[in-house]
Amino acid sequence: MTFKQGIFYQIYPRSFKDANGDGIGDIKGIISKLDYLLQLGVNYIWLSPVYASPNVDFGYDISDYFSINPEYGTMADMDKLIAEGKKRGIYFVMDLVMNHTSSEHAWFKSSLDPNSPYRDYYFHRPGKGNKLPNNWTSFFGEKAWSKNADGTYYLHLFAQNQPDLNWDHPMMYEEFKKIILFWLNKGIKGFRCDVVNVMCKTDLENGKNRLFLKGLEKYQSTPKNHMYLKRIHKELIEPNGAFLVGETVMINTQQANDLLGTESEKELDMMFGFEHMDADQFLVKWFKRKFNPDKFNRILTKWQLELPWNANYFENHDQPRSVSRYGSLHYHKESAKMLSTVLLTLKGSPFIFQGQEIGMTNVDYKSLDEYMDIETKNIWALAKKLWIPKFYRWHMIKTVSRDNARSPMQWDAKGGFSTGKPWLRINHNQKIINVEAQTDDGNSILSYYKRLIKIRQQHPVLIDGDFVPLVIKKGVFAYHRVLGNQKILVVVNMSSKYRKFKHSMDGEILLQNYPPLEMKRLRPYEARIIEVQNDQV
Ligand code: NOJ
Ligand code: CA
Repeated sequence: MTFKQGIFYQIYPRSFKDANGDGIGDIKGIISKLDYLLQLGVNYIWLSPVYASPNVDFGYDISDYFSINPEYGTMADMDKLIAEGKKRGIYFVMDLVMNHTSSEHAWFKSSLDPNSPYRDYYFHRPGKGNKLPNNWTSFFGEKAWSKNADGTYYLHLFAQNQPDLNWDHPMMYEEFKKIILFWLNKGIKGFRCDVVNVMCKTDLENGKNRLFLKGLEKYQSTPKNHMYLKRIHKELIEPNGAFLVGETVMINTQQANDLLGTESEKELDMMFGFEHMDADQFLVKWFKRKFNPDKFNRILTKWQLELPWNANYFENHDQPRSVSRYGSLHYHKESAKMLSTVLLTLKGSPFIFQGQEIGMTNVDYKSLDEYMDIETKNIWALAKKLWIPKFYRWHMIKTVSRDNARSPMQWDAKGGFSTGKPWLRINHNQKIINVEAQTDDGNSILSYYKRLIKIRQQHPVLIDGDFVPLVIKKGVFAYHRVLGNQKILVVVNMSSKYRKFKHSMDGEILLQNYPPLEMKRLRPYEARIIEVQNDQV
């Protein structure tokens, strides 16, 4: 099985399944659910970080890349997870953060001493007079510099406790080589590389004046960054038959193609772009506007046509739930199934985020205290400083907070995630939306996912076929996948209205999310996958 054939499933370990009752998901919990994932049809699991971490950014602040966060278990548990996965034909993709470490990492602690050999593993700089070393701002809405005890400053593009690593240091590659080989030797198949196109900075001069992310042009997809990705791919990834999935921020399709490299000099094997995630926002993600499905589908189409292969996703641990965002809670089942239809039939590797397969929704939290995410808290404080009224701040948090995706997995109507008190509150709608209720219901979202995954695996055209757009209009999205004389038509209605569809829908219906009535019109959120007969090709 290659990554092109595989179904990917992202686990956010803290919220997946708690085996020991402390309210925190763990590795033993994941092991206990491998059979569930096998039945779903999953081939690869992307594990959000399980490394040692003080959890300021819940694992994306790594304090030791060679050990497991004790809250999640031990290295022996991790080895067992990899082995149990392998028995079932399920392989792992580790999250790898190369842009920054935790401020608790031994390198950073040592670097605080100006004479340490680790000093230049990070960017420690004196201020300019009483000003910061430059005007850069962080991804979490703060200044990108924080003060050390000796009065100098260090750079962090994310939280204060996530100091940026200095890839100009000759040892940086060597350090990550050890880390990458350590995990490949354990049998993992690839890495999901966190914010992988901001690793190398050209210089530390002031950035252009912009509302958000001042400094971006100094570190986004720099030549050195490309050089290191090529080196990592050639020297570490290829010889081990592994692959890289990049999380790449603020890029267009041209930059995305550059980050794939060339046939002889590969960089990333596929990447998560953000352009479709931006379709419902105004300037920054915190200002949402009404979802415009045509805009969304035009962006998807552009990426389909302009990239040879995509890492397709509608959800992850940083994004709101797709059914709340692009679907409708009035048509919960229909719209969740419709979205899955697109996700699984686009060209590329589909990534399902835990809970998406049962249509989990955004959280129902009532106050800021219920949220745990650092970004959420920072943005609340920043918005307050900017005099954004409370009702609007609350709206921002409700619709955009990353905790929308991070609330614990809804295994059953009661305490299926944990016998203890979950670290983040479970959505009350677990009473209705849960795995147990959907398992034996042939009409459930979960059953639909299972059928869809089978269909994808039985039809090579859905993997290797070309993507040929047909309609993007008033929420209707239709396209063909074509391979030799095989042709599949996918038609969905991403709106809550009835819609006309003028093209032929003749052929064998492989799957649809409504009872099979002879209808020319598409019902709200309807989705159909039709195999077009040979003589109609
Ligand atoms: C992207 C990750 O997906 C996100 O969760 C994290 O906060 C940032 N990178 C920083 O590591
Ligand atoms: Ca636990």
